[in-house]
Amino acid sequence: MEVIIEANAEKAGLFAANVITTQILRKPNLVLGLATGSTALIAYRELARRHKEGGLDFSKVVTFNLDEYLGLPPTHPQSYYHFMYENLFRHINIDKGNIHVPSGLVLDPAGFCDSYEQEIKAAGGIDIQLLGIGRDGHIGFNEPGSSLGSRTRVKTLTRETIADNARFFAREEEVPRFAITMGVGTIMEARHIILVATGAAKADVAAAAVEGPVTASVTASVLQLHPDAVYILDEEAASALKRRDYYRWIQENKHLVNKVISQQIRARLGM
Ligand code: F6R
Repeated sequence: MEVIIEANAEKAGLFAANVITTQILRKPNLVLGLATGSTALIAYRELARRHKEGGLDFSKVVTFNLDEYLGLPPTHPQSYYHFMYENLFRHINIDKGNIHVPSGLVLDPAGFCDSYEQEIKAAGGIDIQLLGIGRDGHIGFNEPGSSLGSRTRVKTLTRETIADNARFFAREEEVPRFAITMGVGTIMEARHIILVATGAAKADVAAAAVEGPVTASVTASVLQLHPDAVYILDEEAASALKRRDYYRWIQENKHLVNKVISQQIRARLGM
């Protein structure tokens, strides 16, 4: 697990956009896991700009979104499909057939969740998963107490999440109580995971996720067990980390690794 601390939310978002861009350039048919929420907006804005101004090509990219409110049609202004369409999909050249967002209008949610898992598998699995984190530690809509081995399923949102999301609805009573979400186990199968957290309101939960015990009470803490997960935090979100000086020290020294390797190669080859 790696912890990157950027000066502010803008830089944290750009870091995430850089990781995704690099991977698309490396593998044009990348399978990309996406999140909604305000934290992701900076990265999406930058990816859209890179498509418009730099020709970043999404035509072969396949996307899978983490979650969707149960009961909302894709046309609802607060649906996650609508969020993705407005903030990313309509600005890039993605093939509509390559977009996967769980449907909020299914008659058989359990059957739909199984088929969503199958579609991820059929696409070859998720190469990079972008995550945000809720104030209660959730990833996707995997609220505290979710099994760390859970798969895509219907979850009941916590009161805290409903209150947090009420800002997007006219009244709190309008916030859906249920969502379809990829499970923690589903998310953990992504080959590479980046979690972005910004702002002082995320400081305590970021510290719990990065430095606390791995627990279903903070589902984001499970990333500690992932072989290739990166937390990208801004200064405010990193402010409660006990080891933040060490994480900075690692960042400062990382470029030296290559230098040391080059020295060793030269020594071995007698150059
Ligand atoms: C939504 C999702 C959620 C959000 C989290 C943070 O698709 O996956 O886990 O990432 O609630 O939301 P913001 O960024 O709005 O604080």
